[in-house]
Amino acid sequence: MADTVPHLRTEALAALAEAADDAALATWHVRYLGRKEGRLTGVLRGLAQLPVEERRAVGAAANALKAELEAAYEEQREALRRMAVRQALEGGSVDVTLPPRPRARGRLHPVTQTLRQMLDAFRSMGFSIVEGPEVELDYYNFEALRIPADHPARDMWDTLWVDDGTPRPRSLLMRTHTSPAQIRVMEQHQPPIRIVVPGRAYRHEATDTTHEWMMTQVEVLAVDEGLTLAHLKGTLLGVMQRLFGSERRIRLQCSYFPFVEPGAEVAMDCFNCAGTGCATCHQSGWIEMGGAGMVHPEILERMGIDPARYTGFAAGMGLERLAMQLYGVPDMRFFYQNDLRMLQQF
Ligand code: PHE
Repeated sequence: MADTVPHLRTEALAALAEAADDAALATWHVRYLGRKEGRLTGVLRGLAQLPVEERRAVGAAANALKAELEAAYEEQREALRRMAVRQALEGGSVDVTLPPRPRARGRLHPVTQTLRQMLDAFRSMGFSIVEGPEVELDYYNFEALRIPADHPARDMWDTLWVDDGTPRPRSLLMRTHTSPAQIRVMEQHQPPIRIVVPGRAYRHEATDTTHEWMMTQVEVLAVDEGLTLAHLKGTLLGVMQRLFGSERRIRLQCSYFPFVEPGAEVAMDCFNCAGTGCATCHQSGWIEMGGAGMVHPEILERMGIDPARYTGFAAGMGLERLAMQLYGVPDMRFFYQNDLRMLQQF
C-alpha cells in the first residue's frame, strides 16, 4: 500500500496535464479527488486496515498528496482560463470597437412629463409654483371656498376623510382638489398674485378607464387689478398651445363651482382631429381639461383683498386626462399600476 501513494501521484499529475478543457478537468477531479469514488479518497479510507506502524507514514504522504493535487488542479484550471482568454483575443473574436451595452436608465413618469411641460409654460408667463398639503382641513378644502357643511355642492367631491381620533364630523381630509391652496395663498399674500399649484388630489370614487381615486391637478390663481375672463382664457390658451401646438383652440362653457362667479368648464379642441371627432376625443372633437372661473368676490373680501379694486381668475386642471391624450394611453388606471412594460414606453 505504501508505494501506491507515489504511484498515484505520478499517474494523477500526468492525467491532469492532459486535461485540456473544463469537462476533462471536472472528470479528473471526480476520479482522483472525488469524495465518493476518488482514488486518493480510497487510499485514505484504506488507512484503517494498515498496521499501525505503516498507518502514520502512509497517512501523512496521502494527506500531503491531497494538498498537492488540489493545488495542481487549481493551477491547471487557471491556466486553462488564461489560455481561453488569449485564444479569444488572438482569434479576434473579441471586438474591442463594439459599443458598450446600454445602461438601463430610469425615466420620468408620463404624468410627471406632462406636469413639467405645463409648469414650464406657466413659469414662462410669470407664474410662480407653490405647493399645499395633501392632508387638508375641511376649512380650506370646503368652508373657505364657500362650501359649508351640508351644502349640496359637497356632493361634487366624494371625500376621503382622515380618522384623527376625534368624534365626527371630521375636520381632516385628503384634499379633493388643489383649490384649497388658493385660500392658503390669499391668506398670506396681497395682489398681484400669479401662482400655480401642482399636486395630488383624492376622491372616494369607483375607478374606471377615466376615473382614479388619486389624480394630479394643477391649480392656477391670478389676482390683480383689471383681470377679466379674457385673461383667464388667454392664459389657458397660451399654455395649451405651447403643449399641443399653436393651432389649438379652447372652449369655456358655463358651469358652477361655489368659489367662482362666473364658473366654466374648460375644454380644448382635439389635437388629433382638430375638432372633427376621432377616437382620441371620443368623437366629440373636444378634450376636457378642468374647471375655471373668476374668483368669487366674497372670497376676495374674506381674504382682505378689496373686490372693488381687484379681480381674480382661477382654474384647476386634471393632468392624467391630458397625459392620456398626449401619450395615447387608453386607461387611466395604467398610470399607477407600476407595470414597467407600460412605463418604459415613455
Ligand atoms: N377645483 C375644481 C375641481 O377640482 C376645479 C376648479 C378650480 C374650478 C378652480 C374653478 C376654479 O373640480
